[in-house]
Amino acid sequence: MARFDASASGTFLIGGDIEVNRLGFGAMRIVGKGIWDEPERPDAARATLAKLPELGVNLIDTADSYGPEVSERLIREVLHPYAGLTIATKAGLTRQGPDLWAPVGRPEYLRQCVLMSLRRLGVERIDLWQLHRIDPLVPRDEQFGVVRDMQNEGLIRHVGLSEVSVEEIEAASAYFRVATVQNLYNLGNRKSEAVLDYAEANGIGFIPWFPLAAGALAQEGSVLSKIASRLGATNGQVALAWLLERSPVMLPIPGTGSVEHLEENVAAAALDLSQDDFEALERAV
Ligand SMILES: NC(=O)c1ccc[n+]([C@@H]2O[C@H](COP(=O)([O-])OP(=O)(O)OC[C@H]3O[C@@H](n4cnc5c(N)ncnc54)[C@H](OP(=O)(O)O)[C@@H]3O)[C@@H](O)[C@H]2O)c1
Repeated sequence: MARFDASASGTFLIGGDIEVNRLGFGAMRIVGKGIWDEPERPDAARATLAKLPELGVNLIDTADSYGPEVSERLIREVLHPYAGLTIATKAGLTRQGPDLWAPVGRPEYLRQCVLMSLRRLGVERIDLWQLHRIDPLVPRDEQFGVVRDMQNEGLIRHVGLSEVSVEEIEAASAYFRVATVQNLYNLGNRKSEAVLDYAEANGIGFIPWFPLAAGALAQEGSVLSKIASRLGATNGQVALAWLLERSPVMLPIPGTGSVEHLEENVAAAALDLSQDDFEALERAV
């Protein structure tokens, strides 16, 4: 199984009008340790980004807080003007150092974030902008309201949310169409099943973050090993194939700073799981 083509995962229409191949890329791992500062292997990070179009990966997820700024800057450096690519970014999380994240959702701050992402990415409109977190210290209506305003002003094409409940998606929907939801979800962590089901029923793209459980599902010896070895695949590929099989609105964005891992992950798009294997995996984890 060495087919490196994300189009084998099928397509999804974000917001009803941006077609992407369902297997995308998460650009959180092309920066330094703790998602802070420059990457330790900058050449590998750039080579990974440069490889994406060749492999048919056309949905790239990033955030202003990855680095911060480093991920968006590298994406622009390597991929601008993004022919055929959809760059999805996020804001609403601030950084106080490696592995430290704090939500800030004051409307004037969110507006600054969008304007700065536009500048860093070198675009006039962000195809998919996601509210990284709803700030619990700011009325959510104020956060949703400024996002709606920025969409009306043409700064944002489609809006996504991250780490939200069904109730929060419904509250946000009074302000704008929710095009995507990005929640923690993988074979071993399915706390967001209800949100996924809601997304599927409403044509909302579901972007599972930590699709490989931050690499744990790609390790040898995990419960996936038996099925993987029978299929001639790796554990990580089986975990990604399971996600793709789980729902037609599933848009996994495995993150890596290595071309080798990227190729391995993209090859999962062509891995077909039988119904028996799909159910066995669901039971096993
Ligand atoms: N919305 C949110 O709050 C949120 C939170 C976290 C992440 N995200 C997004 O979701 C994306 C995916 O999450 P993630 O990157 O944290 O986790 P992930 O995709 O589950 O796993 C990434 C980790 O697994 C390793 N890995 C990737 N492919 C591998 C392979 N084939 N074999 C072995 N190891 C492999 C990577 O290391 P190497 O670099 O060495 O390959 C990296 O450490 C992020 O990039 C980001 O865009 C969003």
